Formats: sequence, structure tokens, C-alpha cells
Amino acid sequence: MRASLMPGVVVASIAIALSASGDEPTPPATSSVVMEKKSELSQDMLNALMHNDLDRLERDVKLMQVFTRLEAMYRSKTPDYQEQLKKFQAALSTMSKAVSEKNEKGASEAYVDMLQTCIRCHRIIRNP
Ligand code: HEC
Repeated sequence: MRASLMPGVVVASIAIALSASGDEPTPPATSSVVMEKKSELSQDMLNALMHNDLDRLERDVKLMQVFTRLEAMYRSKTPDYQEQLKKFQAALSTMSKAVSEKNEKGASEAYVDMLQTCIRCHRIIRNP
């Protein structure tokens, strides 16, 4: 099972949703869409790692970076949240670097780091 995501279409529709929201600071529907995509991408990354498909992983990392930038634009900026966001982005950069070096072990370690920030950030949100 490959290429179930359509990056261009997804990014374009998010961009439209964001521009349609005008000056409203937190459009909840849009952020859920972003999060659902992040969830989908994190699963696709795992599949890519299992199949040692670094091209697919590279594409997933790039998309994840785009969605994270979108999220960062409208999310509240508490210090704990920011810290997890930074760690999440750092894990993605590490993964991206590992992929470009064809370093599968490094990429899978970065994947685990990324998942930990998913869990930590959600814990912070539940208990601010
Ligand atoms: C820096 C903070 C942060 C990180 C990192 C983060 N999330 Fe989230 N996540 C949120 C916030 C805030 C919400 C709350 C609701 C929303 O924005 O839709 C959320 C909600 C969700 C939801 C529920 C979506 C819905 O429809 O309500 C899922 C699924 C999810 N995140 C998956 C992930 C996955 C998978 C990762 C890691 C790849 C991740 N998140 C990383 C902040 C984060």
C-alpha cells in the first residue's frame, strides 16, 4: 500500500482553510485536520521504516514539517507547549538528516524521539 496521501491537495486545502479563517486566532476544525494528518503521517513513517523505504520517509518528513509550521502559526504559546514543539521539530530535522545520509538506524531513533514528543505535548494539553 503506497502513496495514499496526496500532499499537494492536502496542503492546498489546509492553506484554503487557513486563509478562509481570516483573523480568528484558533480555528479548531483546521487544527484537527492538521493533527489527523500528523497522525496519519506518523503511521506512514513507521511503514516506511519497516520497509526501509527512505524516499517515502523523506516525503513524510517534509509533509510533517509543513503541517507543524501550520500548527505553530495558530497554537497557544505556553512555554511547555513551545518546548515540546521545538523537540518535535528537532526530531524531524534529525530524521531528515538521517534520511539524506541513508542512515536507517538514525532515522528510526529520531522517529521514536518524535513519538515521545507527540505523547508529551498531548499530556501537557490535557493538564496545563
Ligand atoms: C507541540 C504539541 C503537539 C505535538 C508535538 C503533537 N500534537 Fe497532536 N495535538 C496537539 C494539540 C494542541 C491537539 C488538540 C486539538 C487539536 O489541535 O485538534 C492535538 C490533537 C491531536 C489529535 C486529535 C485530533 C482531533 O481530531 O481532535 C491527534 C490524533 C494527534 N494530536 C496526533 C498527533 C501525533 C500522531 C503527533 C506526533 C506525530 C502529534 N499529535 C504531535 C498538539 C501536539
